[in-house]
Amino acid sequence: MTTAPDDVAAAVLAAIRGRRVVRALTDEPVDTAQLEAVLDAARWAPTAGNRHLQRFVATVDPRVLRVLRMVSPGMIQRPTAVVVVCIDRARAVAYGFRPDIPGLSVDVGTATATMLLAAHALGLGAGPVTSFSKAAVATVLGLPEGWTPELIVCLGHPADQQPAPMRPGSRVTWRDLTRWVPPADAPAT
Ligand SMILES: Cc1cc2nc3c(=O)[nH]c(=O)nc-3n(C[C@H](O)[C@H](O)[C@H](O)COP(=O)(O)O)c2cc1C
Repeated sequence: MTTAPDDVAAAVLAAIRGRRVVRALTDEPVDTAQLEAVLDAARWAPTAGNRHLQRFVATVDPRVLRVLRMVSPGMIQRPTAVVVVCIDRARAVAYGFRPDIPGLSVDVGTATATMLLAAHALGLGAGPVTSFSKAAVATVLGLPEGWTPELIVCLGHPADQQPAPMRPGSRVTWRDLTRWVPPADAPAT
């Protein structure tokens, strides 16, 4: 295994810390090359069994975006591009997986986190949305049989003014989230 140089490590960690969900976007379109770079980043995300059972449906079509917003109460922003992260459950079954194994949802998360970070690195604003009608989104996008829409990554250019974060002040520290085994304050044996 190679170790990243200090400046690369610092830049990656700064990007991880600096990324925030962006819910106010301008009308400026997302450049195709940038959208493709976000999609390309997603394919590097780890997947269960390295099966790559996530599918990505990308659109910049204003009519499709408008309808997606209508069926997505959680979509506060007006994105100029979206990537809908789907699971190919038919292919999962063909691989011998149960169509509802938890790893498939984890794959949605790894791809989403990777895309959010890539978008941030490219200077785009991005935010995940899971509050939407799956049936409506599947119909609007004309998803193939066996694909289920799981999460929408909204993309665009950040507006100058952003709404207040949800539950401001709730940021937790890594210590709040972590438990050492054996306990960190336990006497050494
Ligand atoms: C699984 C998942 C679902 C989410 N769904 C929505 C959503 O429907 N609408 C929304 O505005 N934000 C959604 N979010 C974004 C979170 O609200 C956001 O990450 C959180 O408020 C912390 O903000 P930050 O990522 O900027 O630190 C979702 C995040 C995750 C991980």
